[in-house]
Amino acid sequence: MTNLTGKVALVTGGNSGIGLAAAQELAQAGARVIITGRRKEAVEEAATLLGVDGLLADQSKLTDIETLAALVAQKYGRIDILVINAGISKLTTIENATEEVYDEVMNVNLKGAYFTISRFIPVLNDGSSIIVISSSSASKATPQTSIYASGKMAVNTVVKIAAVELAPRKIRINAVSPGPFSTAIMEKTGLSAPGMQDYIVARVPLGRLGIPAEAGKLICFLAGEDAVFITGAEYMIDGGQSLNQ
Ligand SMILES: NC(=O)c1ccc[n+]([C@@H]2O[C@H](COP(=O)([O-])OP(=O)(O)OC[C@H]3O[C@@H](n4cnc5c(N)ncnc54)[C@H](OP(=O)(O)O)[C@@H]3O)[C@@H](O)[C@H]2O)c1
Repeated sequence: MTNLTGKVALVTGGNSGIGLAAAQELAQAGARVIITGRRKEAVEEAATLLGVDGLLADQSKLTDIETLAALVAQKYGRIDILVINAGISKLTTIENATEEVYDEVMNVNLKGAYFTISRFIPVLNDGSSIIVISSSSASKATPQTSIYASGKMAVNTVVKIAAVELAPRKIRINAVSPGPFSTAIMEKTGLSAPGMQDYIVARVPLGRLGIPAEAGKLICFLAGEDAVFITGAEYMIDGGQSLNQ
C-alpha cells in the first residue's frame, strides 16, 4: 500500500465524488490533506467527515486560485501532492452552444486547471506529484460533449508540456481520465435518468459505472513513490468504455 506519511496533499473540488474519494485515500495513506470547494457548508461537511482541512476557493477564478496558493504556502509551507479535480460538465450541440455555457465549462475545466498548476508550482516541493482529473470524453466523439471534451483534451496537452517543464525539479504530472463514474456530476448533467444510465452502462465492457474509490486508489498510486518514474501519462479508468467508439 502507498505510504504518504509526512506528505501534504491538496485536492480541489474535494467535497464530492472523485475528489472526496481521492482525499479519503490520500488521508488513509498517511498524508495531511486539504480539500477545496466553492460551497462553504459542503466543504465543511466533507472536511469533518474525512477529518481533513477544508478551504474555500472557486477554481474558475484566478484571484481565488492565487489567494488559495498564498494561503496554503503561509499555513502549510510547501505541498507534495496536488490533485486538480474540480470540474463541471454541460451538454450542448455545437449548433446550440452559448457563450455562457462555453465560458462556464472552460473557466473551471481548462482555465481553472491551467492556473492551478501554474500558481501552485512555486508552492510545490521538488519531487512532488500533480494529478489532473481529465476524462475519457477527451478521446471520444460523443455528441453534445464538444465543449467539455475539448477542454479536457486541452488539459491533457498541458499535462504533457508541464511534465517536460517540471522534470528538472523531479515534479511529476499525470492525467487520470475516468469513464462514467457514479457521482453527482451525472445528476448535474442530466445523465442519471434510468434509461440514460442503462445506455451508458451498455457501452462499458465491464458492465457498470465506476465507483469513486476506484479512481481515488489510482490517484493515490500516482501520488506515491511506486509511480516515481511516471510522468506526462494519461491513465484511462473507464471499464473499457473508450474501446467502444
Ligand atoms: N463522474 C464521471 O463520470 C466523470 C467522468 C469523467 C471525468 N470526470 C471528472 O472528474 C472530476 C470530478 O467530478 P465528479 O464526477 O467527482 O463530480 P462531482 O461529484 O460533481 O464533483 C465535482 C467537484 O468539483 C467541484 N467544483 C465544480 N466547480 C468548481 C469550482 N468552480 N470551484 C471549486 N470547486 C468546483 C464541485 O463542487 P460543488 O459540489 O459545489 O458542485 C465538486 O466538489 C471532474 O473534473 C470531472 O470532469 C468525472
